[in-house]
Amino acid sequence: MAKVIEIKDVNTNFYTYEGIIKALDSVSLTIDHGSTFGLVGESGCGKSVTARSIMRIVQEPGKIESGKILFYPDPNKNGEGVDLLQKPESYMRDLRGDKISMIFQEPNSALNPIFTIGFQISESLLFHRKKELCQSVVDDLGKTGNGLFIPLSALLKKIYEIGARNPEALLLGLFSRIPILKRWDRLLKKKALNRSIELIDDLGIPNPQEVVKLYPHNLSGGMKQRVVIAIALACHPVLLIADEATSNLDVTIQAQILNLLKELKKKEISSVLLITHDLGVVAHTCDRVGVMYAGQLCEVADVRDIFENPRHPYTSALLGSVPKLLQKKTLQSIEGNVPNLVNPPEGCRFHPRCQYKTDICSEKAPPMEEVGTNHSVACYHHLSG
Ligand SMILES: Nc1ncnc2c1ncn2[C@@H]1O[C@H](COP(=O)(O)OP(=O)(O)O)[C@@H](O)[C@H]1O
Ligand SMILES: [Mg+2]
Repeated sequence: MAKVIEIKDVNTNFYTYEGIIKALDSVSLTIDHGSTFGLVGESGCGKSVTARSIMRIVQEPGKIESGKILFYPDPNKNGEGVDLLQKPESYMRDLRGDKISMIFQEPNSALNPIFTIGFQISESLLFHRKKELCQSVVDDLGKTGNGLFIPLSALLKKIYEIGARNPEALLLGLFSRIPILKRWDRLLKKKALNRSIELIDDLGIPNPQEVVKLYPHNLSGGMKQRVVIAIALACHPVLLIADEATSNLDVTIQAQILNLLKELKKKEISSVLLITHDLGVVAHTCDRVGVMYAGQLCEVADVRDIFENPRHPYTSALLGSVPKLLQKKTLQSIEGNVPNLVNPPEGCRFHPRCQYKTDICSEKAPPMEEVGTNHSVACYHHLSG
């Protein structure tokens, strides 16, 4: 299977007044092209920090200390991945919202209240896809009967051809200041807006022509989240990261959006990293699952194995005693507290809450071991298969 992203031994810390919070401790995981990887675990275990580390948007006072995040944008090309942790910020800016997109829990934080929906989707397209949009305007202008005065049409075509070759060309900036040539900008914006209308139509939003003229506050929560998804999908990302993207919505809307993501995954997006605390969602949408506990991954396996044959005592406790695939179930609460990440327990971080613990568990952290086909677990006393 071709990989899309490979996280290797990533450590991310937060430098706070109370001390250093080791939010990610040697986290490693791989997501394959075309698959949905679910990341689960109790609140505060490091799911969002994992997502933010991939995007390199860890907030202050956080810092990615070490590790590798290898990104393989093209499944057909083997070879070395690009280590995102070694790239300059400008590279990441181009990547975010283009090859890798992220949707958050709260749509309001992703939408700007003062701009229309159409403007906000167009903006992402104009930022990342100016070249293609210029080319598509050139194609339109090449068609006869485009309604423009012939010399103007020819001049505009020349200008857009420059744009299609190099969207950053200085000349374009100059042209766009000459009043009669402002059409340059207008045609391009119209193209972006039309693309935005198509996108929100694809997401099942009724009246897309009207919706693009609305502001975020005119829409319901479910509609807003669809718009956020439209923005995230505008540039056909290779990897979509959805961090509790449906947790705030009511159950029916949540189901609609998840089905939508599933549909879209077939044709638009290559791979998804789905972060959720809802195991029903995981069973319904994921191919593989990673279970996190206190900043570490403790089990990774195919979705069926996680539900039918959990090997880590924590996974098993999380699922409850009789896990059933495809049954709606939220995480069970487990006795004891999530450890403080400033001074996490020595050895296995789960040992203070574990009924199977022995001396070694508090002395040495268990390594991640392969215990079955594509099934890894970090536990000295992993449950029998
Ligand atoms: N901005 C922050 N400042 C300080 N600590 C943070 C910050 N964000 C996250 N953390 C720490 O990182 C840990 C993991 O957080 P997070 O990834 O958000 O958890 P979750 O699994 O619920 O998404 C938390 O327990 C918290 O201690
Ligand atoms: Mg989170």
